[in-house]
Amino acid sequence: MLLDVKGVTRMFGPKAAVDNVSFTVAKSGFIGVIGRSGAGKSTFLRMMNRLTDATSGTIHFDGRDILSLTGRHMRDWQSQCAMIFQQFNLVPRMDVVSNVVHGTLAHRSTLSTMFGFWPDDDILKALAILDRLGIAEQASKRAEALSGGQQQRVAIARALMQDPKVILADEPIASLDPMNAQVVMDTLRRIHDEDNRMVIANLHTLDTARRYCDRVIGMRDGRIVFDGTPDQLTTGVARDIYGADASFSEYATSTSIDALGTKRDDAYAREMLA
Ligand SMILES: Nc1ncnc2c1ncn2[C@@H]1O[C@H](COP(=O)(O)OP(=O)(O)O)[C@@H](O)[C@H]1O
Ligand SMILES: [Mg+2]
Repeated sequence: MLLDVKGVTRMFGPKAAVDNVSFTVAKSGFIGVIGRSGAGKSTFLRMMNRLTDATSGTIHFDGRDILSLTGRHMRDWQSQCAMIFQQFNLVPRMDVVSNVVHGTLAHRSTLSTMFGFWPDDDILKALAILDRLGIAEQASKRAEALSGGQQQRVAIARALMQDPKVILADEPIASLDPMNAQVVMDTLRRIHDEDNRMVIANLHTLDTARRYCDRVIGMRDGRIVFDGTPDQLTTGVARDIYGADASFSEYATSTSIDALGTKRDDAYAREMLA
């Protein structure tokens, strides 16, 4: 088993943000986690890379007991499971290459990171990754000068600098327009397909999950209420995940990748509205 999550719970006061979550992943895949705001998606990702402690439960990755790692072992794990955030988390005034090389911070002395003297090898590696992601020509610009989609690709490049086994993406396209959203999702999917890195992405819309993921996990009130393939995400199931209230149709249609349009998605959006 590559990933084995057992009974993971995170309490905030009396409330369980993540409530007894269990699932297994046999081999590297592209996994989407969907659910309304507050369902526990971010908290789960943050526990996986040890930004937040679990209250109980275990997570094993490749046989390693992730939640009990400490010190250097925990930092090693954190560099093996890179995080991508909705807001990119780049240093806005710093140039793109330096932002990417920042991904190796875990392995660097404080002095060399403070003064920004990056080793040539790291710069060349960063440039090669930027080239792979189609943004090499932006390398010397300040991060803040780039479009949102380009900035998110810089964040992905920074993640790749760590050569991670897992990429955890928390709503990676929630701040992007449709075109950029598509480029970023295509990029994540390509990294999975070409490098076989596992991707776990929290996504706020159904159609993105359906289009890009091999497997979709639906969360509601901290619990897993769906775990299956995109094809199994029927209207009834979606209703169960999002709740059958006004926000349901909003979730189903708010996305925008739709607007770029394939037949299947248009049909799906109509089905959702029916
Ligand atoms: N640091 C925190 N302190 C208190 N409550 C929190 C904290 N982080 C998250 N929560 C609560 O946990 C629940 C799940 O939040 P979150 O994981 O952010 O959900 P999602 O990412 O699906 O929107 C929410 O009710 C949220 O208010
Ligand atoms: Mg969240």
